[in-house]
Amino acid sequence: MGGPIPALDARARSCAERLARAERVLLASHIDADGLTSAAIAAEALDRAAIPFETVFAKQLDPDAIAGIAERDFRTVLFTDFGSGQLDDIADHEAAGAFTPVVADHHQPADAGTEFHLNPLLEGLNGATELSGAGTTYVLARALGSEMRNTSGTASGEERSDELQADNRDLAALAVVGAVGDMQDSSGELVGANREIVAEGVDAGVLAETTDLALYGKQSRPLPKLLEYANDVRIPGISGSERGAIGFLSDLDIELERDGEWRRWVDLTADERQTVASALLQRAVARGVPANRIDDLVGTTYTLTNEAEGTELRDASEFSTLLNATARYDRADVGLAVCRGDRDDALDEARTLLTNHRKNLATGLDWVKEEGVTQGEHVQWFDAGEAIRETIVGIIAGMALGTDALRGDRPVIAFAAKNDTESKVSARGTHRLVRSGLDLSAVMGEVARALGGDGGGHDVAAGATIPKGDEEAFVERADAVVADQLG
Ligand code: C5P
Ligand code: C5P
Ligand code: C5P
Ligand code: ZN
Repeated sequence: MGGPIPALDARARSCAERLARAERVLLASHIDADGLTSAAIAAEALDRAAIPFETVFAKQLDPDAIAGIAERDFRTVLFTDFGSGQLDDIADHEAAGAFTPVVADHHQPADAGTEFHLNPLLEGLNGATELSGAGTTYVLARALGSEMRNTSGTASGEERSDELQADNRDLAALAVVGAVGDMQDSSGELVGANREIVAEGVDAGVLAETTDLALYGKQSRPLPKLLEYANDVRIPGISGSERGAIGFLSDLDIELERDGEWRRWVDLTADERQTVASALLQRAVARGVPANRIDDLVGTTYTLTNEAEGTELRDASEFSTLLNATARYDRADVGLAVCRGDRDDALDEARTLLTNHRKNLATGLDWVKEEGVTQGEHVQWFDAGEAIRETIVGIIAGMALGTDALRGDRPVIAFAAKNDTESKVSARGTHRLVRSGLDLSAVMGEVARALGGDGGGHDVAAGATIPKGDEEAFVERADAVVADQLG
């Protein structure tokens, strides 16, 4: 039976067959929203296939992390949302007989081969925009579902009686959360192979897609906060101003509070939403927001239809932020439990972590705005040192690139202290720059290795680890490589 992405069928089937033969599996994944949803999808699929497994998370799959995995006594290791970029190292362990790797990833592959390797880039699909780690793992989960049904004949066993669960299509919702978490919808909607996954999720009744206001927080933010914090498209007089946001809403003919509480976007009727949206567009036009930015105010919203209304889990974008709030603070266990259905303790804990994450993002963004960035010839950069946690400096660099504080026509390189001897580097670009030749994955990899570090990622977003003190040398070299790419 074919999977959702025909180009990946053969690889997915071969990986699934290998997993089905495993006595037990070590599942290793990346600590961000995409990595957590990847792990959750893989965990569900392995459980349903009755394959025992244990889970480990890593911030970066560096040589130490891989060596640690090799020391665990597992013959089969499933890497999700990382692994491709470290295949050279992984292949060495494989050759030494440590384990057989099965890789489901969407990062730029290193120059090494392995037998069980599922990655959209190997089949000409774009790993930054068309398929995420979670999407790739979903393709694998679908293949594993088919594999189990083939080997067991008819759907057997109580737990697999449900046809939907047996073919793993219900996991499409988590795959979409992962894709949105990696910002693969930054053009306004999911595209490419991701669309097939959305279609399966809609078909399976776990997802809905609607055209709606493209603001973050439609489920859980009070209306004024929804508008005040909208920093993707800034509307003069409203964005960044609590008074402005409340004033704007008060002029509209809608009820703003109920039982002494602000209403949220989800609480509005369709008519009321229309009223707010049109007024917002009118205001944007009147205040001279350029037409292409105004288009960005409307986009596709992905709703997890089985989640309760007004919770972060119902909106793919809010769900992904909730997950980053756990994983980026060493609490991947909490995020994984939420993905796997814990709606009590884990969700409570995740919400506490989210409050903290939001505060850190806001503080970090303010720091960048205050300190400003340094312009090179082809890149702009800032060094946050200890001021921003290294696990979120990339998110903040991406948010900053969307503000007036930075130039929009060149990539940003951000540094943060990692430990006594190393610095973390995060780089973010725009799709327009990528179309002109920018490939930050190549920049980060090449320059970091020249300085004795390592890096990689995607064309539009990448990262690296380098020796502490080499920041300026890094900028200088990166500037030259970017000049080459764009020249
Ligand atoms: O490891 P990984 O693939 O998860 O990280 C993807 C990162 O790239 C995310 O932090 C996301 O914010 C960033 N990204 C971006 N713009 C894109 C695609 C990804 O900033 N268009
Ligand atoms: O944390 P994550 O990268 O998932 O956040 C996604 C987006 O959510 C950010 O780029 C930002 O636009 C929005 N956000 C926000 N205010 C916050 C947290 C997130 O606007 N406090
Ligand atoms: O950490 P950050 O959000 O900046 O990561 C951006 C992208 O670069 C992610 O996809 C991440 O997996 C990748 N990366 C990498 N090697 C590193 C650091 C980040 O491949 N050393
Ligand atoms: Zn990813």
